[in-house]
Amino acid sequence: MSSHGDPRPLTSHRSGPLTGIAEVPGDKSISHRSLILGALAVGETKISGLLEGQDVLDTAKAMRSFGAEVTDHGGGNWSVHGVGVGGFAEPENVIDCGNSGTGVRLIMGAMATTPITATFTGDASLRKRPMGRITDPMALFGAQAYGRTGGRLPMTVVGARQAIGLSYRLPVASAQVKSAVLLAGLNAYGETTVIEPEATRDHTERMLAGFGATLETETTAEGRVIRLTGQPELRPQTIAVPRDPSSAAFPVAAALITEGSDLLVPNIGLNPTRAGLFTTLREMGADLTYENPREEGGEPVADLRARFSPDLKGIEVPPDRAPSMIDEYPILSVVASFADGKTVMRGVKELRVKESDRIDAMARGLEANGVTVEEDEDTLIVHGLGPGGVPGGGTAATHLDHRIAMSFLCLGMAAQAPVTVDDAGPIATSFPIFEPLMTRLGASFAEPAG
Ligand code: S3P
Repeated sequence: MSSHGDPRPLTSHRSGPLTGIAEVPGDKSISHRSLILGALAVGETKISGLLEGQDVLDTAKAMRSFGAEVTDHGGGNWSVHGVGVGGFAEPENVIDCGNSGTGVRLIMGAMATTPITATFTGDASLRKRPMGRITDPMALFGAQAYGRTGGRLPMTVVGARQAIGLSYRLPVASAQVKSAVLLAGLNAYGETTVIEPEATRDHTERMLAGFGATLETETTAEGRVIRLTGQPELRPQTIAVPRDPSSAAFPVAAALITEGSDLLVPNIGLNPTRAGLFTTLREMGADLTYENPREEGGEPVADLRARFSPDLKGIEVPPDRAPSMIDEYPILSVVASFADGKTVMRGVKELRVKESDRIDAMARGLEANGVTVEEDEDTLIVHGLGPGGVPGGGTAATHLDHRIAMSFLCLGMAAQAPVTVDDAGPIATSFPIFEPLMTRLGASFAEPAG
């Protein structure tokens, strides 16, 4: 979907205590990968708990365009009849990945070593985002890419014929780039090696191993080294998608800052490459506990219990934690606004190339609501106002960014005056049930007055 219609402004009013059980949707990263790896396997992959957000629906549609049979059985249950590694057909039309950087980058990787041509586009946000980080390693495999200036979409990728495995050191800490190289390596001869100086989310590695690829991971002085043997026959899988920690972050954060709250957020994936926010919140003094910790489908999971936390303290977030909480800085900035003292977030320049420039979007929106911030290219500092201390009353521009929209709606739940976002529409990309779920727990949303 390259546009989502007219902007839909929404106001979040100060809410009573948030209480009850917050059942958040399936993990976005794992949902994309389930569809793509299912399409590259031979036979039928069954998926339950798939996130039915627009980003993932766009990936499902794309997999159909490459020849896989993707069926929605209702209630988050899907199946994918894959075409096998190297079996992608040439799409008849342009692939529109909507708002999804993960979708377009992983799919480009998955087709780049098959001799077909595909043209990709996306919405106004995705068309601004850099694709050179994917097309550079794809060129080393022999694929060609023709995009707009600065490596922007729309872009046509001509897949390589008879690609040979290679070794690639990630120039940015990015699971999307790592995953694109590994997916391209699937149809290359011999071994493809990815070296990541900083560990990023490892769902692709775990899932490739589950689908029967030969893959080894080793931690060395250079970082994590992942070696994949090319041209495996991937075996179809039955996948239960865990709930998304990046979505759980919103009700958890809202409960910590809203007086009297006590929420249970069950069954959340706590893979260490994703759980950095929860560690940080606990360091700030959050009343956040892991109940019933267990393993499910090879991933650590627990039920999160979050209660109102009046004694939050600002902290320095260790920069090396950034990859494990990269999507959570916007909502952390909201929690930081209700802490005592300043919260310093360094090493976060990747936030400038997400669905929006998230440093700028958070800084401007927090300022509009009475919070003092400092920023530079790679840093965001929030000066906390203590519990109940945020004036609110402002409007935040969301720039087609779901996480910016949800963050400011959470700010409004605990601010003194209502907080408005200029467009709640993009929330449907990752958390389509956000508004009814939060309303059931006690949040109060309305169309802006006037
Ligand atoms: C994702 C990786 C991250 C993250 C995105 C999902 C993934 O992006 O921001 O929401 O599923 O691989 P980068 O790899 O660009 O950091």
